[in-house]
Amino acid sequence: MTLDLPLPRTSEEQRVPVYRSSDPTQSASVRPTTPLDDLNLNWTEKQLPERERTKHVHRLHPYLGKYIPQLVEVFIRRFFAAGETVLDPFSGSGTTLVQANELGVNAIGYDISAFNVLMTNVKAGRYDVSTLRKEVSDIIDKTERCTDQPRQSLWGKPTRSSSRATDNEYLNAWFAPRALDELLAFQSLISSYEYADFLKIVLCRAARSARLTTHFDLDFPKRPVTQPYSCYKHGRTCEPTQTAFKFLSRYAADGLRRVEQFGQLRTAADVQCFNADSRDGSIAAVDGIITSPPYVGLIDYHEQHRYAYELLGLTDRGDLEIGSASDGQSKRAQAAYVENMREVLENVVPSVAEGGPIIIVAGDKFDLYPTILQGLPLSCDTILKRHVNRRTGRRSGEFHESIFVCSRRSGSECRLG
Ligand SMILES: C[S@@+](CC[C@H](N)C(=O)[O-])C[C@H]1O[C@@H](n2cnc3c(N)ncnc32)[C@H](O)[C@@H]1O
Repeated sequence: MTLDLPLPRTSEEQRVPVYRSSDPTQSASVRPTTPLDDLNLNWTEKQLPERERTKHVHRLHPYLGKYIPQLVEVFIRRFFAAGETVLDPFSGSGTTLVQANELGVNAIGYDISAFNVLMTNVKAGRYDVSTLRKEVSDIIDKTERCTDQPRQSLWGKPTRSSSRATDNEYLNAWFAPRALDELLAFQSLISSYEYADFLKIVLCRAARSARLTTHFDLDFPKRPVTQPYSCYKHGRTCEPTQTAFKFLSRYAADGLRRVEQFGQLRTAADVQCFNADSRDGSIAAVDGIITSPPYVGLIDYHEQHRYAYELLGLTDRGDLEIGSASDGQSKRAQAAYVENMREVLENVVPSVAEGGPIIIVAGDKFDLYPTILQGLPLSCDTILKRHVNRRTGRRSGEFHESIFVCSRRSGSECRLG
């Protein structure tokens, strides 16, 4: 069941306790009057465990490079009122848009990656849960029947050739024959359902897990692994998976549960996400911006979801990604990043209402933002530092993020640094 619960700020403010900076778990008690210097954004793993950071639809599909919903919540509560509109020109997996909706704030997102936009619109969508439940159960049943495999043999080796062949080289290289057959069977059924886009996300999440890779290299697998391997994650010899059905059914159920959970919190606020280049996309008038741009040379946002592009036949616009890993971190790459980020901000800042907040969360390792912000029609009021120490797996380690808290000023030119 979907509940529309607009949250008028005035009545809510009367209920929330006063924010105490010593306890960063209190995001919900941040108010428009909370002093910026009081904000404590340095959550520890214990204070903000993974299940909270990946609550409801935030874990509908893995995505490397997202910020945490609680960070967005703090800035929405501090700077936006219910009914206003926030823009995220690098909306990624949709964290800003989903959190804004939860707080009754309208949200517009742009992202160059078609898969990210699909993911965001699926997360933020409105669902009739009983219809979704029927569709999920129906497609899983049909997939199981048409892949023609008794339950127990799903764990064994492929026993027959597939009737659903593809000439896609990537798919043939990265999936065992049985896994590919199951994925293609599920995919062939999707278009007949109302919630086809939700099912596409289930398909892609299952495909991610079913790739021929090791259990410890789901983020950046370089080449297919077809033989048993020594798995440091499980401390034994593991085999690359031969099947996808178990993932399809597991993620269909998990996705349904997550959508139901968000449905309990979803408000009537508007959410729209567009597949566009933020350097030149036409931007609607908004009350403010909250965003985390790509960092310099860290992640290839299209490449991390290669399986989705291949399966869904989405257009790859990776050449338009700003700061992609493949461009590296050289001086030249940094200069290109500055130029591209300036183009984005020159395009989007004028859409913000006078005095509106522009919050930019950036890993500014190369100290480029003073140059990027220079001369733009905004004032940079504060730069907050955030200690990030919760990363796990291959991306573990700690670092600091800078949060540039700016306001739109049409008559002024930002001077920093
Ligand atoms: C750091 S991520 C944003 C993550 C987001 N805050 C979240 O929580 O999911 C940066 C995003 O910028 C997108 N991007 C890169 N270049 C872009 C461009 N020229 N126009 C629009 N989006 C772009 C990438 O595809 C990526 O999804």
